Amino acid sequence: MNIIPEESFKGVHKGKATSLYTLKNNNGLVAQVTNYGAIIVSIHVPDREGNFKDIVQGYDTIREYIDGNDPYMGAVCGRCANRIARGKFSLQGKEYTLAVNNGPNHLHGGITGFSKVVWDVVKKTDSSVKMEYVSPDGEEGYPGKVKVAVTYTLTDDNELRLDFDATTDKPTVVNLASHSYFNLAGEGSGSVYDQELMINGDFFTPTDDSNVPTGEIRPVKGTPMDFTIPRKIGAGIDMDDTQIKYGAGYDHNWVLKHRTGTLGLAVVAHDPATGRIMEVYTTQPGVQFYSANWIDNEKGKGGKKYQRRWAFCLETQHFADAVNKPHFPSTILNPGDEYKHTCIYKFTTK
Ligand code: BGC
Repeated sequence: MNIIPEESFKGVHKGKATSLYTLKNNNGLVAQVTNYGAIIVSIHVPDREGNFKDIVQGYDTIREYIDGNDPYMGAVCGRCANRIARGKFSLQGKEYTLAVNNGPNHLHGGITGFSKVVWDVVKKTDSSVKMEYVSPDGEEGYPGKVKVAVTYTLTDDNELRLDFDATTDKPTVVNLASHSYFNLAGEGSGSVYDQELMINGDFFTPTDDSNVPTGEIRPVKGTPMDFTIPRKIGAGIDMDDTQIKYGAGYDHNWVLKHRTGTLGLAVVAHDPATGRIMEVYTTQPGVQFYSANWIDNEKGKGGKKYQRRWAFCLETQHFADAVNKPHFPSTILNPGDEYKHTCIYKFTTK
């Protein structure tokens, strides 16, 4: 197992110390997270023969995360993950303007979102770590002081469990998402075209050409978005389809079947070659499936060069631009209310 030495993540960023935390369970699984951006750095899981591989892309040192990580590898995206159209929204009659950092839109919380700040570790055991961050009122243009926490737990059921919560002192927008780039054959091992997904949703939210949902909820049936039965990622990724063209591949939100707020099965990912399976469970209404279309020769762990579509992200979250789409489940958090989000990656083989 290529466990990353914790020393490689000792540093100071804007006056706060960075570290790497290694979580273990009783079956030999290992996950590593850093308090910079609450980033998942590695997840080591066995194949059907018991061979362990690290199945998430990333970098070997804290320096590379701080100086680079433009693709948000492994990060917690917030205060509002995904896009807000033109970086604008209104709340209680007031218009807010955020950074436009992705074409004409706001993406993943702005220039210095939750993925680019140092979180405070408040609790650590052999199999879990809890970290918190206080986002000041006005940070990145958002109203309200938000206190956010995430706990990572590696369970003996071979789950990596993410529990988020957040509170605010003024009405604001909160939508958190974990942004790991998975390749079940091992990070850096090549294209994921032959890996399969089942996505537990009959509808998706089509986008405009800047990747912002139009507001339509469209059936997946008869489109390349139909993952209701397991389908190879490569099968429809280059189809002659307007939505695929807008995303340069898959970069869309699926409407999940379960009731929001209860834990439901979102996705089953399977690599037939190694037998590795990852089930994703969430309390959130949606999952953004992004097929790493914009990765181009990204230098990662062990000097590997990650290429386009060598990984997939399955970001459980609310639908993009919900703050501007009143018929989407709301991303507005009010004082006195608590934002809660659980995401579970469960690893098995067949
Ligand atoms: C978005 C992509 C974007 C990527 C950035 C994903 O969540 O959906 O459009 O390019 O994040 O790493």
